Amino acid sequence: MIKLKIPATSANLGAGFDALGLSLSYYNYVNMEEAEGCQISSLDGTDVPADENNLIYHTAKTVYDICGRNFKGLKIEQINNIPMARGLGSSSACIIAGLAGANRLMGDPLSLDEMVDLAAQIEGHPDNTAPALLGGIVTAVFDGKKVHWVKQEVFTTLKFIAVIPDFELKTEKARACLPKEVSHKDAVYNLSRAALFSASLLTGKYENLRTAVHDRLHQPYRMELIPHGRDIFDIAYTNGAYAAYISGAGPCLMTIVDAENKFFAGKMRFALDNMGLASWEVKEMHIDNDGCRVE
Ligand code: HSE
Repeated sequence: MIKLKIPATSANLGAGFDALGLSLSYYNYVNMEEAEGCQISSLDGTDVPADENNLIYHTAKTVYDICGRNFKGLKIEQINNIPMARGLGSSSACIIAGLAGANRLMGDPLSLDEMVDLAAQIEGHPDNTAPALLGGIVTAVFDGKKVHWVKQEVFTTLKFIAVIPDFELKTEKARACLPKEVSHKDAVYNLSRAALFSASLLTGKYENLRTAVHDRLHQPYRMELIPHGRDIFDIAYTNGAYAAYISGAGPCLMTIVDAENKFFAGKMRFALDNMGLASWEVKEMHIDNDGCRVE
């Protein structure tokens, strides 16, 4: 039985729509071995599809097919900590589990680059799948077939504190509300900030992050789908966050906070409770530089 540990991811990082993403210290665990047919169980009671539509199983089968290997079936055991359809890369974590797991079970026929490409082809964009596999902060361009990527490790004590709503927001819905075209001015607005984000994070110029996460391609539209979102950003900045942005397609609201800001999570919890949002979660994470681990 092989064991996989797959991190959550936060994509877009504000302005880097479909291009930037980073890996976080919040994990799904998957055990996998070749077996007869489809044998899927959840070890933590999370309701997961137990048939061939299970994304881990389906991805693994696809990878066997692509590699021309005979696929008889798989036994899969899942611990699903990353909440689904919240903007923390839960579907990418399943895709990477299926891909990296199948690759290991077949004796590692695929290179790392091939896995990055395949994962993006399956997901449609690389900004969750690439950091889930590689770790760190990943800058990626997907040309439809191939991903041109750079992974950078981030050595920081910054905290990434997520405010996780109690409702799901499917990526398809969150993409359907976006404009088909944007102005040249807005394109410049975003590309300059996306570049500023990585450079500032990597060099410790954290005071730039608030400017860097502003964007005109997706957050203004998606914010309409996240009740209380703007208020929560205001509260985060009042409590000293460096930055607040919609994680991935949302509805998770991610904040970036200095390690010295010790009571930030407690203050957010208190504010949410006072807003009647006791069922929303506050989750503290750090950057994971390792990505998916397979044993
Ligand atoms: N870049 C993607 C989006 C990430 O914002 O739609 C979510 O899967």
